[in-house]
Amino acid sequence: MHFQWYPGHMSKAKRQMQEDIKLIDVVIELVDARIPYSSKNPDIDSLAKNKSRIILLNKADMADPVVTEQWKKYYEGKGYYCLNVNSKVVPGVRPVQELIKKACKDKMERDKKRGILNRPVRAMIVGIPNVGKSTFINTFAGKACVKTGNKPGVTKGKQWIRLNKDVELMDTPGILWPKFEDQAVGLRIAFIGSINDDILQPYQLSLALIRFLTKHYKGALTNRYQVEEIDDAEELIKRIAVKRACLLKGGEPDVDKVSVFLMDDFRNGRLGKISLERPNIQEAQDQEAQDQEAQAQETQDQETQGQETQDLEAAEMELT
Ligand code: G4P
Repeated sequence: MHFQWYPGHMSKAKRQMQEDIKLIDVVIELVDARIPYSSKNPDIDSLAKNKSRIILLNKADMADPVVTEQWKKYYEGKGYYCLNVNSKVVPGVRPVQELIKKACKDKMERDKKRGILNRPVRAMIVGIPNVGKSTFINTFAGKACVKTGNKPGVTKGKQWIRLNKDVELMDTPGILWPKFEDQAVGLRIAFIGSINDDILQPYQLSLALIRFLTKHYKGALTNRYQVEEIDDAEELIKRIAVKRACLLKGGEPDVDKVSVFLMDDFRNGRLGKISLERPNIQEAQDQEAQDQEAQAQETQDQETQGQETQDLEAAEMELT
């Protein structure tokens, strides 16, 4: 599978966000707690430079709680304020209020010193489509003031929502990854359903999911479908099809149909609390990237030094 998906409205959304962000004190980025790395948009780091940053690990009710806690520490270690949330219920988002105040404490104190009183903190919700922005805003704001939906890119327009005397919230459309240079990232985003299903092959996706689950979450498929977890994913999906009575006319397993069921079960948490990414792997990748950068810098320094030596030698030759 190869993903290359950057619809026009995404680049428009990015330009809009560049404008909107000028009005903002704190950027609240929602990521999917099941893929807190892959669902984090890399553009936001540069767009939100010099702003207070909050990361909400949303849909935490569907993620592995142990792994989610590791991610919280991981992002806190990188200087973000971070919380795990379940946007579907009020108690799941309530602590965010305090976190916003904490993240904006310096700014509020600065305002106070300058005699600016009663100016609410302005917050902006960002995230890739389907991560739960509309749901979060509805629950957090306490009334259904934003349209929610299950199709990527449904959040439209922009509006300010006065939460209380301290906080004002802006809603903006989400921005998806500009392009999935890292195919593993594309695959994980597809797993959680943030790419339109009609451009993906559910069967391939399901095979990849089965391989992941039998390796990292042993028992999840057995619990749901009462099948033995064998190594051969293609055979296993056929057995699941038989169990689910997904059969073609001749009685053959209908693997395409069962793939859709399987993905739906995963996306709705019916296979259990599952996280597709772990921060220790991420840290290793970050370290590798840093090492490569350091190596590249060293090579460049050596080249520059080499060039300087050559220049010096050339100059000396001219002198003699
Ligand atoms: P978006 O604005 O970022 O595009 O996402 P949206 O709020 O539309 O949410 C996308 C889907 O994710 C919705 O499901 C929503 O209910 C679900 N969702 C959002 N936050 C959470 C959460 O914290 N936990 C869980 N379990 N689900 C969450 P849907 O199937 O499209 O709609 P519905 O069936 O819930 O109405």
